[in-house]
Amino acid sequence: MYKSMRVLGIETSCDETGVAIYDSEAGLVAEELYSQIPLHAQYGGVVPELASRDHIRKILPLIEECLSSAKLSRQDIDAVAYTAGPGLIGALLVGASVGKSFAFALDIPAIAIHHMEAHLLAVMLETPQPQYPFTALLVSGGHTLLVDVQGLGKYQLLGQSIDDAVGEAFDKTAKLLGLPYPGGPQLAEKALQGQAGVVKLPRPLINRPNCDFSFSGLKTAVLHAFQNSDKSDQFCADLAYEFQQSVIDVLIAKIKRAMEQTGNSQLVVAGGVSANKKLRESLNNLADEKGMQVFFPRPKFCTDNGAMIAYAGWCYLQASQSIDDNAIVVHPRWPF
Ligand code: KG4
Ligand code: ZN
Repeated sequence: MYKSMRVLGIETSCDETGVAIYDSEAGLVAEELYSQIPLHAQYGGVVPELASRDHIRKILPLIEECLSSAKLSRQDIDAVAYTAGPGLIGALLVGASVGKSFAFALDIPAIAIHHMEAHLLAVMLETPQPQYPFTALLVSGGHTLLVDVQGLGKYQLLGQSIDDAVGEAFDKTAKLLGLPYPGGPQLAEKALQGQAGVVKLPRPLINRPNCDFSFSGLKTAVLHAFQNSDKSDQFCADLAYEFQQSVIDVLIAKIKRAMEQTGNSQLVVAGGVSANKKLRESLNNLADEKGMQVFFPRPKFCTDNGAMIAYAGWCYLQASQSIDDNAIVVHPRWPF
């Protein structure tokens, strides 16, 4: 009889400790997430050393919770996948050390996963799934990437941000407006009370004939607009509205270009910022207008989680690729 394979996934690249178990037959059978947001909020951003220490505190209890909620023992696990980068080095080392030790003790494979690739593959946890080839926009706190996806591990980078990532721009703008960390979702909330056309911000690189992005100038434009305003609550909402719209306009323009360039008719949008409702709405409208299909992970799998790591691990286990030796190696900077 065919035996299903179970992959334990561990995510510790930044400020969420995520653990999940993916079963090749049953799908996702357990997932636990511990967010460090309250820990970092008082500092207005992630404090790397505190993040590492908190991952150490939470990782083993979360693994135990996943095993017990799925009614599995450690011996039922066939492979361990962990985020090996990109991310904070100390935070990555926690997940890598625990993941590799777990695998070594049980004599099962350990699989190093690229965090942004896992964000991309998270969409495969949904139905319907996109079919290769497709174009992907990956938008997180640290990366903004447009990729032509030909298959698992077959990626061609079409464009990326030459400075700040979209999520970073959201977070910095939110901080300026006095919104708590992490600013992205808060800024989106604030924008709901804002009006179109009151504040005018640039759409950086929108007319450049390539798929690259730049968001640091937008951040400076936001700063100037804010400094020259009455700083009222309504102004902040109008500014939030215009900021979000500027980002969406630029993303859409570059997506259109990428779709034309690749000839793909399916688009995947993933990473933390893809949880943004206005962005999802605008992309759904674009898809209707252009007769293309757009796919997103469910919102909780857009932001960091263990499920996407477990699933990516299963993909590579199945392909018998990227199985580690025993060295514990992480890549804080790791090109896509
Ligand atoms: O993928 P992710 O959870 O972590 C990284 O890999 O960086 O992305 C986090 C980023 C943060 O910048 C956060 O503010 C942003 O995603 N984000 C959002 C929303 N939810 C998360 N930005 C805009 N609107 C949202 N709803
Ligand atoms: Zn992420």
